[in-house]
Amino acid sequence: MSSSDLEAVATGMVAKDKGLLAADESNATIAKRLAKIGSENTEEQRRSYRELLFTTPGISQWISGAILYDETIRQKTRDGVAFPDYLAKLGIIPGIKVDTGAKPLAGFPGETITEGLDGLRERLIEYYKLGARFAKWRAVIDIGDGIPTRFAIEANAHALARYAALCQEQNIVPIVEPEVLMDGAHTQERCEAVTDLVLAEVFAQLGRHRIHLEGMILKPNMVISGKKCPKQATPDQVASATVRCLKRHVPAAVPGIMFLSGGQSPAEAALHLSLMNRLGPLPWQLSFSYGRALQDAALSAWGGKAANFAAGQKEFQKWSRLNGLARSGGFKAGMEQQAA
Ligand code: 13P
Repeated sequence: MSSSDLEAVATGMVAKDKGLLAADESNATIAKRLAKIGSENTEEQRRSYRELLFTTPGISQWISGAILYDETIRQKTRDGVAFPDYLAKLGIIPGIKVDTGAKPLAGFPGETITEGLDGLRERLIEYYKLGARFAKWRAVIDIGDGIPTRFAIEANAHALARYAALCQEQNIVPIVEPEVLMDGAHTQERCEAVTDLVLAEVFAQLGRHRIHLEGMILKPNMVISGKKCPKQATPDQVASATVRCLKRHVPAAVPGIMFLSGGQSPAEAALHLSLMNRLGPLPWQLSFSYGRALQDAALSAWGGKAANFAAGQKEFQKWSRLNGLARSGGFKAGMEQQAA
């Protein structure tokens, strides 16, 4: 392992004005997205949609890396260029989702444990050869009656740290993603308390597993009210609670924090990131690693039809640019309505 290689990649991922495109939907997840826009779901249709994203003009100004799925990292553009090679040529770092999903945690109703450690070393070796320079593993923590339990938090943090150690051994930067879901009816205060517990445990485990903090990226949730909570925190409250919580737990050695959007609207996700970046100076770069918040508008505009390819690209370009602005606090509420 070379720690300077890991640091160079991690720093590149959080380069000024840039963030990540999470395009690593599993085949089951992309099937839902395609069904929603009334599109058929074939391997060619999935390939063609990812080509729409990756070949959008100008995106390397705002997109530093793209997270791919096992099927996608093996696919090619219409012209026969492997996706990871195509992205790398643009200066966009290819990455890969390596967990195999959150499965029910036996003995703990309503909680999950993320799987994918078996055979991971061998898979990382193959993904490196295919061009991946960073990886992603998502642990899922739900908030509800009596959950999360301490045990589920520990089990998930332990798995995240084992994954991160294997990645660094193979010269791949781990994105450590402990996602506290925003699906419930909980308050913002509860989200903060749970996120506190989760981050404390994750960094304790990363320490025990001898993770090189300078060569990793954290991908957390924002500290936000549950979707069904009657009292919604304001954007300024989300920004200040999130930064407060991160400052308590994330060592300054970690180069970057790249948020998931988690079900926020694209405009909310951009605004929250922008407001946080106005709270500086901060010890780490604060950026985005959005799936839905970058892709929703593009998916709808495309609608699964080749004739709308350019319309889809226009939306993806717009949301990449707006989130690029949010990296330095330059996105303001309502800007998306004026943006072409
Ligand atoms: P969302 O931004 O849609 O939450 O997806 C990000 C991601 O990669 C979740 O693992």
